[in-house]
Amino acid sequence: MEGLQGVNMARQFRLRPAPGSLDAGAENDSSMLDRRRFMKYTFNAAGGAIAMASLGSVGFAAFLMGQADTGGEDTGVKYWVPKGQEDTVWYGSLHEQEMQKSHLEAEAAKSSTGMSGAQGVWSGMPVNIVYIPHEENESKPPAEGIPRIQYGEGYDAAGTFIGHGREIFDVTLEDGSPDTALQPHDNILLMFSRCPHLCCIPGWQLVANDFTADTWLPGGVDAGGNKLFCICHSSRYDPTMLEKNRNRNRSNGSTFDYFGVRLTGGPAPVGLPLIPFTVEDDVIKGLSTYQEWYTFCD
Ligand code: FES
Repeated sequence: MEGLQGVNMARQFRLRPAPGSLDAGAENDSSMLDRRRFMKYTFNAAGGAIAMASLGSVGFAAFLMGQADTGGEDTGVKYWVPKGQEDTVWYGSLHEQEMQKSHLEAEAAKSSTGMSGAQGVWSGMPVNIVYIPHEENESKPPAEGIPRIQYGEGYDAAGTFIGHGREIFDVTLEDGSPDTALQPHDNILLMFSRCPHLCCIPGWQLVANDFTADTWLPGGVDAGGNKLFCICHSSRYDPTMLEKNRNRNRSNGSTFDYFGVRLTGGPAPVGLPLIPFTVEDDVIKGLSTYQEWYTFCD
């Protein structure tokens, strides 16, 4: 199974040489790495080594909140079309354009599960967005092919219970009000898309296999499709199962609790953290409330 998946990936992705062999001068100096070049390589990485080499000593937090080229906050979430996928992903003509809820709804209407998703970029960081027909399905009995947002127990890489996904409704802002932008809303979840294994970028239906097929099973299990899938070493994430979990910053070892979607299989230790967002005039806008959650690849 793993071997066959690897063959399929190689066919469907235009594998690129390591950064050092292309435009060698620029890539070898990670301090000169610009956002566009960084994203190009990480989105097309065929192995963790490429993503890690591209990062070098830059650190992902350096890209947070548009510091890389705007110097200010850039809240809009944009589509990001992986190189070579222009004719295969549904958002192929929308590269770097604003993500809109109506786009996701229209695409979801074409799927058998009513789900849709896309790669994106927000404040210089890779993200995944997934549309789940939660409001339509939440009152129906959990069953195959009827997805909804679920809440489950979260365990860290050592198996320690950290918390339950429903605790997301207890999260408050500094003024004591509930963080409604973090809570699920608008049938959409927005996630930081660096793999907690070796920091490649998981994707939504960028490769075809049993994990990415347009199917869904309840319970946050590894079986069933519509998983976010990391091509580097096949980690899988169920974007419909929310949990509380714990991760750590690789550089300074500090740990932090976060809310995110569940890892269902593969070598990654934990799942992907959520990004709170708003929908304003149909446009998806990310909020930088929990920047620490996105530092585990630093
Ligand atoms: S980087 Fe190894 S599974 Fe994602």
